[in-house]
Formats: sequence, structure tokens, C-alpha cells
Amino acid sequence: MTGLAGKVALVTGSGRGIGRAVALRLAQDGAALAISDVDAAGGQAVVQELQGQGRQAQFYPADVAAADQVNQLVDRIMADLGGLHVLVNNAGITRDALLLRMSDEDWDRVLTVNLKGAFLCTRAALRPMLRQRWGRIINIASVVGLVGNAGQANYAASKAGLVGLSKATAKEAASRGVTVNAIAPGFIDTAMTKGLKEELKQEILKQIPLGRLGQPEDIAAAVAFLASEEARYITGHVLCVDGGLTMV
Ligand SMILES: NC(=O)c1ccc[n+]([C@@H]2O[C@H](COP(=O)([O-])OP(=O)(O)OC[C@H]3O[C@@H](n4cnc5c(N)ncnc54)[C@H](O)[C@@H]3O)[C@@H](O)[C@H]2O)c1
Repeated sequence: MTGLAGKVALVTGSGRGIGRAVALRLAQDGAALAISDVDAAGGQAVVQELQGQGRQAQFYPADVAAADQVNQLVDRIMADLGGLHVLVNNAGITRDALLLRMSDEDWDRVLTVNLKGAFLCTRAALRPMLRQRWGRIINIASVVGLVGNAGQANYAASKAGLVGLSKATAKEAASRGVTVNAIAPGFIDTAMTKGLKEELKQEILKQIPLGRLGQPEDIAAAVAFLASEEARYITGHVLCVDGGLTMV
């Protein structure tokens, strides 16, 4: 596919996991890629991988929770790559604890990275998108933001917040050709889920009708669709990619 030829895509947290798979897929579809992460080694490895495939890609270190870094990130991408058409707010963390034991720090950090980070990136990227009258913003939420999960009050709140952010931004940006959607992954096989105990993994598998954990490429395929011209009439939507786990 070459549907994104001539377009520039920024994927936050693309040094590994889902973000890496999304970046590889959008590049395969023809986009020039801005790879951004707090992990410089991971981000640079993805850039090398992309360049090895003959794709256009550059690494931009940035913490999505820091407004000054985010603003500089978008300015540099505009200067280096000549535009910004697709933003995938993917960077995210977990700091799990039962609510009664959850510290203020763990609450604040998860909300700041997962939700404020997406707000800061959206605010910085939206101006050029509105100006060029074409844009795609895709927020990586979670089924946990839709149905909750014990031990993840901070994470669930941040992901539910992303759904609200997506819908409000979708209404503000629609008249200028910018769509904003969220993807709610179920359990995806990445470093984030590697730590799950085997028993818990088996319990989860029993609840997934399609009978397996998702792969990062399953999420990348959904992002590629929402980023494409084909998805032009879809905005403010939450797409669950969860093997049938929630069916909400
Ligand atoms: N893996 C799953 O089962 C699953 C399920 C639902 C949603 N998600 C969401 O998908 C996204 C990616 O998850 P993953 O499983 O690939 O996780 P991961 O931990 O493998 O990768 C996350 C990446 O984000 C980067 N990152 C962390 N904090 C950052 C910050 N402040 N600024 C910039 N980059 C930062 C990390 O360095 C890492 O490269 C997250 O938003 C996560 O919440 C994952």
C-alpha cells in the first residue's frame, strides 16, 4: 500500500512494542516517520530498521509529559519533514496498585504521561493539521478504560480520559478535515503484558473468544486503516481491537 505517500506521521513511544509496529506499518503504507520516545536506544534502533527498508525516518527524543519538549518536537518535525499529517498518541505507562494503596505519585505520573501527554501532543500537532485541512489523530486507549480493571484505577482513568479527549477534539476539528479516533486494545503481547503471571494469562485467554493475545501488528493494522483516506467518514469513534474480549 502507498496510501500515505507524501504524508508525515509521528508515533509517540515508538521505540518498542505497539508503537514500533505502528511505525513500521505506516512507513510500509508510504508515510515518512517521526519516531519519538524517551528511550533513545529503542527509538534509534527503529529508525535504523526503517532506513534499512529504504523508508524515510528520523528519531526525536521527547517526553510527552513535558510541554516544552512536545512543542519543540512538533516544530522540528515540521522543519525537517515539511509537515505533520498523522499523530498516533501511543506512549503510555502503568503503575498498578489497588486504589487504597495507590500513591499520589503513581496516580499523577500515569495521568500525566497517558492523558496529559496526548493532550500536549494533540495541541501542538493540531494547528498544522487544521492549516493543511487534513489530519488524522489516533489515540491508543485501552479496553480497561471502557470496562475497568482491579488494580489499575489510574490507568483506567487515563484511558477513559483519552476517549473523552478524542471525542471532544473530533468535534472541534471535523470541519477542517481532521479526524480523531481512539483504539482500545485488549491484551497485546508486549513488554507491558510480559510481566503477567502465567495463571492470570491463562484466565485472560479463556475470556478472549479469538483465543489468543493480540500482536502489536493487530493494532498497527487498525491504526493504518484509521489513518487512511478510506476512513475519512469515521471520527470520534472508539475501535476495540481485543479478540472479542469486551464486545462493548
Ligand atoms: N500491551 C497491551 O496489552 C496494551 C493494551 C491496551 C493498551 N495499550 C497501550 O498501548 C500503548 C503502547 O503499549 P505497549 O504495550 O507497546 O507498551 P511498552 O511499554 O512496550 O512501550 C511503551 C513505549 O512508550 C515509551 N514511553 C513511556 N513513557 C514515555 C514518555 N513519557 N514519553 C515518551 N515515550 C514514553 C516507552 O519508552 C516505550 O518505548 C500504551 O499507551 C498502552 O497503554 C497496551
